[in-house]
Amino acid sequence: MRHIMVMNAKGGCGKSTLATNIASYFATEGAAVALADYDPQRSGLDWIERRPDNRAKIVGVSGFDDGLRRVPRSADILVIDAPARTHNKELADLVKHAETIIVPVLPSTIDMQASDRFIKELKSVGKVEKKGVKIGVVANRVREYTLIFEELDEYLTAARVPYLAALREAQNYVRAYTRGLGIFELPEYLAWPDWEQWDPLVKWLRSKRSQP
Ligand SMILES: Nc1ncnc2c1ncn2[C@@H]1O[C@H](COP(=O)(O)OP(=O)(O)OP(=O)(O)O)[C@@H](O)[C@H]1O
Ligand SMILES: [Mg+2]
Repeated sequence: MRHIMVMNAKGGCGKSTLATNIASYFATEGAAVALADYDPQRSGLDWIERRPDNRAKIVGVSGFDDGLRRVPRSADILVIDAPARTHNKELADLVKHAETIIVPVLPSTIDMQASDRFIKELKSVGKVEKKGVKIGVVANRVREYTLIFEELDEYLTAARVPYLAALREAQNYVRAYTRGLGIFELPEYLAWPDWEQWDPLVKWLRSKRSQP
């Protein structure tokens, strides 16, 4: 089973949005997918409850209650939605569950500073240092041609972790979450710009480079 965690100690940067969309991507590709929510806010589990019955099934697991005990053994992919403010031992404990970690970062000075500290802390976790985990960063809620996106783009390019994608700020993400879907399950005429932006991220997730 493949474990993909979406993580950043900074709140509100898009962890649950990315986790639900990664889960929906692999499910629509035919994989058996489970989504473990480690955040008592339950955004990931609430999304699964909204998911229509006729869509590819995703099994929800309340990681914040009982860890990964209830993850079906038959799952091919486990996506883990991590909570904000995870540091120190709690961070090291969560990282034990992942081989691939995606870190979303918003175009804002506060978020870049907090994410910079978080990425440094993440890189110092034993399992990451021993190269048992691959980390990739994603710019999220981006507005093109803004100065702050230019700064974020430069910062992530220099961050010494793979900079996988820049995802635009779009109502599609809000719409999709509300309906229990991912952007890959929205009609092409609405979501094609988002599909294009996700393309390098899903290619990385599918490639050997994203696996230790
Ligand atoms: N690319 C995007 N475009 C538009 N809205 C977005 C995008 N990404 C996230 N959002 C919105 O931003 C808000 C925060 O996103 P989300 O809940 O995914 O962040 P989070 O990191 O999981 O937050 P928390 O730290 O509270 O768990 C939500 O309202 C979500 O719908
Ligand atoms: Mg969340």
